Amino acid sequence: MYVCICHAVRERDIIRAVAAGATSFQEVQDQLSVATGCGSCRDEANRYVQQCLDDAGTADAIPALSALA
Ligand code: FES
Repeated sequence: MYVCICHAVRERDIIRAVAAGATSFQEVQDQLSVATGCGSCRDEANRYVQQCLDDAGTADAIPALSALA
């Protein structure tokens, strides 16, 4: 599912960025340009990144995230 239409960023792209080591919304944004177009996706994109970061903080989450990516 697309999170950001302007830059064709999907949930899996965000999962992949977090699994690869991104530790903040800014880092994900730098990699994917998510929410740098019209900006209408910013709140939802930020919420999804935070959810992924929270999930990445739990034991065994990174392998699970990587499997989804
Ligand atoms: S939909 Fe993400 S910047 Fe426009």
